[in-house]
This record gives sequence, C-alpha cells and structure tokens, in this order.
Amino acid sequence: MISKADVIARYLPAQLTAGERGEAFAPSNIALCKYWGKRDQALNLPINASLSVSLAHLGSRTLITPSADGVDHVLLNGEEQATGSRFATKVVEFVDLFRRNSVQPLTIDTHNNIPTAAGLASSASGFAALMLALNDFYTLQLAPEQLSAFARMGSGSASRSIFTGFVEWQMGQREDGMDSHAVALNACWPQLRVGLVKVATGEKKVDSRAGMQRTVESAHLYQSWPLQAAVDLEKLHIAIAGRDFNLLGATAEQNALSMHATMIASWPPLLYWQPESVVAMQQVWELRSQGIDVYFTMDAGPNLKLLFLDKQQAEIESAFPGLEVVAPFLHQQCTADPSFTDAIKEA
Ligand code: DP6
Repeated sequence: MISKADVIARYLPAQLTAGERGEAFAPSNIALCKYWGKRDQALNLPINASLSVSLAHLGSRTLITPSADGVDHVLLNGEEQATGSRFATKVVEFVDLFRRNSVQPLTIDTHNNIPTAAGLASSASGFAALMLALNDFYTLQLAPEQLSAFARMGSGSASRSIFTGFVEWQMGQREDGMDSHAVALNACWPQLRVGLVKVATGEKKVDSRAGMQRTVESAHLYQSWPLQAAVDLEKLHIAIAGRDFNLLGATAEQNALSMHATMIASWPPLLYWQPESVVAMQQVWELRSQGIDVYFTMDAGPNLKLLFLDKQQAEIESAFPGLEVVAPFLHQQCTADPSFTDAIKEA
C-alpha cells in the first residue's frame, strides 16, 4: 500500500521555494450522489464515483504566511487553535506532507464563512482551500486534477471542492490514486437553489470517516450501494444535461436515503437523524404532495439540504423559516456552457 508521503514525493520537486504568502478560497459542496466507502483508507480512494454541486461563495479561505516566532500557528475564524488539538493536528499533518524536510514554520489562517447555524461540515472546503493555498505559497503550479487528488488525501469530499458548479469525482483505478480526482462538469443551471435546514450543530459522535468504515465492514446492505451509486450517477448526468429538475431532485433524495439505509443497517447501528430531521423530511414530502417541487439530501449528520428552483423559493422559505438559500450558479461564469443561453432565456 502506498502512503500519502510516497505519492507526494512522486509528484513534487524535492526542494520547495516558499513565497511571502499563499492564499485561496474553496467552496463547500453538497453531494447529489454520495461518496460512501473507501477502497483505500490511507489515500481516501472511494468505492464509488460521486457528484456534487459547489456552494458558490460559501466555503473556506486560507492564508499561509511564514511564522515570525519559529513555531507553527493554526488559526480558525481568527482564533488560535492549541497545538495538538484535532483541527491543528489535521492541518499541520497535511501541510507536513508538502513541506517535508523544510523546517520553515508557518502561520495557517483559515476562515469559514459557512454560517455555523447552517450545520454544514467544512472539511471539504477546508482541505481544498488549504491545498490551493499551499499551491500558491510554494508556487507548485499543479494542474487542477492534481490539486483535486491531493486535496482528496486530506478529506475525500475535498477533491470536489477544488471546482465550482457541478463536479464529478471519478473513482479512478490507479494504486497511487492520481486518477481519483474530481472534474468540473460543463453545465450551468442558474435557477437551481440549495436550502440549508439546520436541525442541530456541533461535533458528531461518529465522523464520516469512521461511519463509512463501519458501514463497509458491518452492513450486508452495503453490497448494493456501489450499484445504486452507479445508476444514480448516470441519472444525474441525464438530469443535468436535460435540465430535468424532478429527475435531479428525486435521484439525489433516493441516493441520500439509500446511503442512510446502509448506515442504519450497520452494527452498532448508525443513525445520524434527529426527530427534527424526520419532521423536516415529512414536511418536504407534504410540500411535494401539494405540487411543490422540493427534494432533500443529507450527509452524515442530522441536517437537510433542500433542492428546488428559484420560482419556488418564496413558498419554500415560508415553509422553512430561517432557511439559508444558496444559488450555486449565480456568481459563476456560465459562458463555457453551450446551453447557457437557453437557460438565460428560461430564467
Ligand atoms: C456523507 O469526505 O468527510 O458527506 O474522506 O473520511 O474525510 P473522509 O470523509 P468525508 O465524507 C463525506 C461523506 C458524505 C458524502 C459526500 O460528501 O459525498
């Protein structure tokens, strides 16, 4: 089995040139077809391909500068994180993969603008922003696919946060994982909206990494997951190409529920839902029965992410007061998408 350090050594020069500062932003992302299960735990290589939509301006910004006092400093939202804390350890371990023998201490300052109240995990945008900031600081000039593959080594879902819009993380086959990276889909959907429903915030008892491992090891139901994911990925491509919102929403919702079914069938059982999660799901189903096109997806946590189109935003906001609504494509350059002109006409 290849280690992260071995992979890095293959692709980076032995000596790095540090700059004065490295800075980058990366968006958070919501998977419509989930990544659930690893074929390689060290490199975060997935059992299935996944597809997400990036959350435009919501994400992480990371600034790297040389440290003035001879030790590393890790800051999160303006607060210094204690050496050895979970966050600081993860950041420094990832940075060490790149700086290797260099002893230059750094200050790594990360700000998340994802409202804590939205209950969204930030490891995807966090590792993607850190990777992009390292690329800037050491003038690595890595290709987007390499940035994505390296960000994946921090956290699998970070591979998708290197890109904006719809993003597919291809599972790849290589042992060193360098073909397991995300690619941006050439598609734009300005009317699409993602609503963040907060059920609960705070640290989860079982994180995604442990949760997916438990599922792979103990749930017989997991055997059906790779097939479900492959079928859903195909459907999502069709939905995106044809701007078929109901197909997109239904596929994402079924995919999320299928993933949760595999967790529930694990041992010890893994149920991330709170009673309020179920209430919100039933509210979505009730709205659909009234003819309102709204669907949900959920990650390894109790919060729902709603999917709907701009024309139904007002109704959905009144059903879910305090909903944080994101327009994933509003700030994006959509000109590369040949169907963009049609989308503008429809809007
Ligand atoms: C349910 O990327 O957080 O959100 O690779 O172990 O860091 P690690 O896991 P992570 O898992 C995300 C799982 C998910 C689905 C998804 O985002 O695709």
